[in-house]
Amino acid sequence: MTGQDDLKRAVAKAAIGYIPGDCIVGVGTGSTANFFIDELAGIRHKIRGAVASSEASAKRLQGHGIEVLSLNEAGDLPVYVDGADEITRHMHMIKGGGGALTREKIVAAASKKFICVCDSSKLVNVLGKFPLPVEVIPMARSYVARQLVALGGQPMLREGFTTDNGNVILDVHGLKIMNPVELEATLDHIAGVVTNGLFARRAADVLLLGTPEGVKTMTA
Ligand code: A5P
Repeated sequence: MTGQDDLKRAVAKAAIGYIPGDCIVGVGTGSTANFFIDELAGIRHKIRGAVASSEASAKRLQGHGIEVLSLNEAGDLPVYVDGADEITRHMHMIKGGGGALTREKIVAAASKKFICVCDSSKLVNVLGKFPLPVEVIPMARSYVARQLVALGGQPMLREGFTTDNGNVILDVHGLKIMNPVELEATLDHIAGVVTNGLFARRAADVLLLGTPEGVKTMTA
């Protein structure tokens, strides 16, 4: 068990305090979300079920005996809990390190409250040191890559990886993202882009940040 895992477990535990009784919970993807799923197992009799943002999270939820519903069945959700690869004090995030960005963005959009759970290494002043994941329809890969170069990035194909939606990921290096809201919209308008990993228009509402001094709660 590393110190970082302890911080992730602490924020996962803290997130349980944001789950209303008898609700369907939106559940993210990644190592921090996995800790949250394990904590959710402890209150599984108090919730109706979960909507997962990836096949991997769905499998882990089911492994704990938590019912997984489709978003279409569930409708709007009161709360979505997920990690991030980078987050700013304005609650803008880069997500998609695990490749689940499209379903994450959909479930986040359908949720009233986004609770971001991170260890303190994820908090940054400016987004972009972490390569920005962009999910792309396979036939558009080279075209989209050229557009990303024109925007100042260095896209690299995530080798040997296919998303849950059957698409590829370009990880864009070298971007210093001063205006995440604008860049998110610009990238979404490139033909062939399914989703980009900027979560700025729908930012987090609450950040639970795991630090060696304890869990800090931040809001925008
Ligand atoms: C998955 O696609 C991502 O958006 C994750 O939420 C993000 O990469 C954080 O993952 P960790 O909790 O594993 O750092």
